[in-house]
Amino acid sequence: MTRKLSLLAAAVIGLAAVSANAADAAKTWKSKCASCHGVDGKGATDMGKKMKIGDYSTAAWQAAAKDDEMTKAILEGVKREKDGVKQEMDGFAAKGVDAALAGELVKHIRGLKK
Ligand code: HEC
Repeated sequence: MTRKLSLLAAAVIGLAAVSANAADAAKTWKSKCASCHGVDGKGATDMGKKMKIGDYSTAAWQAAAKDDEMTKAILEGVKREKDGVKQEMDGFAAKGVDAALAGELVKHIRGLKK
């Protein structure tokens, strides 16, 4: 391999290590999010029912959701009350989710629409 080519290879490998992709998002959704939101995003889990988490697979939820608000919620968390129920989600910026991965997670959630 020429020096130029190996430099290019190193750059590509470096990039792959820092920028998140769809597969990372799917993996993260399963490991860090599905316990509350469900793999299908319907929120039909024990935690989801307890906190009245919305069904993210519906057209109505998807239409109301804004990408920037979703990103902010993922990174900084959610703390609010709905119908007398406390809805709380920790911010994931402190748990290994960076802005790029948060962006991929938003795309993943968009893909949960039925
Ligand atoms: C401890 C349970 C829990 C976990 C784990 C969790 N969430 Fe949440 N999440 C909630 C609750 C509660 C809400 C607020 C209620 C709702 O939106 O229905 C919420 C809201 C959201 C929202 C909507 C914010 C808005 O704009 O209203 C997004 C997007 C979201 N979560 C993504 C994620 C992602 C991505 C992960 C994993 C990295 C995750 N959540 C993990 C409980 C959780």
